[in-house]
Amino acid sequence: MGHCHTKVDQPSTDEVFSKLEIPSVLERAEELVRRYPVPRSALLPMLWLAQEVLGWLPQEAIRWAAGKCEVSPVHAYGVSMFYTMYKKEPTGRFFLQICQNVSCHVLGAEDIIAHAEKTLETTSHGGTTSDNLFTLLRVECLGACGNGPVMQVNDDFATDVVDGALAMPTGVSLTKERFDKIVAWCRQQAKSQQKEPVRDASGGAFRTGGHPGAKGANTAAQKPDYAPAPPVLGLSVQKTEDGKVKVTWRADAGVSALHLENRTNGTEFISLATLTGKDKEWVGELPAGTELRMVSESQGRRAKPSNIAKVEA
Ligand code: FES
Repeated sequence: MGHCHTKVDQPSTDEVFSKLEIPSVLERAEELVRRYPVPRSALLPMLWLAQEVLGWLPQEAIRWAAGKCEVSPVHAYGVSMFYTMYKKEPTGRFFLQICQNVSCHVLGAEDIIAHAEKTLETTSHGGTTSDNLFTLLRVECLGACGNGPVMQVNDDFATDVVDGALAMPTGVSLTKERFDKIVAWCRQQAKSQQKEPVRDASGGAFRTGGHPGAKGANTAAQKPDYAPAPPVLGLSVQKTEDGKVKVTWRADAGVSALHLENRTNGTEFISLATLTGKDKEWVGELPAGTELRMVSESQGRRAKPSNIAKVEA
């Protein structure tokens, strides 16, 4: 996993593909590809999707993602190796990642890592406890340096347990005592969950789920309102039988408005019609030679314009 690599039993192609080549996963894979102008741009979320389904990323899953994104398997493998969040081997139920990077290091991360290794009786290079509950990994900057030293438990930041949930309150960093508290919380969770969470035969962790985290640290709060609207793709123009012009495109249905603009003789684009994200086509009369483009808008922010399509004679 991550930067260290031990030998892992790899499931067969059939085992992996039988879990990924199913309608619910394929639908999401197709949706990911549609989001980008070229399939290769979807590689990171595609690997993430495979990991979500399998709990980790066997080599065959990387090959599957490569196929979906039209890149070579070795390219996808290289990308997956760069990020510690892609797991190249199954982990215990609680995947503890402790940051060893500069800020956390100077604030005492090494002491905590040593304590964690001792307490859990495993190594911090991807070691898993004998009861399969914990996998411990030292990682590079988790992007929460202000709270350093910090730890992630599965997909969530955790430097403390507050009101019975994992949390990373502002200014509260990980200490040996808080590490013990978090480990006790995890053990408690494991005990109180009557049923084992649904686990794949090939292993993998499950999300601890649902804790609010520090303000701004959970994904809900991070929904970027600064992101521009996704641009309109594949704008094209056809003539209808009655001589009108039909314009079609691909756009994210969630955008608040689509601005269809036109120009003649290479002058400035001017607004022709304003449509909604749900609209799929526009039909009207336009002289030959008119150039069209479309700009999507979300929360008052405009995306870069689509390609330009021209009305043929
Ligand atoms: S250095 Fe540890 S989170 Fe950035």
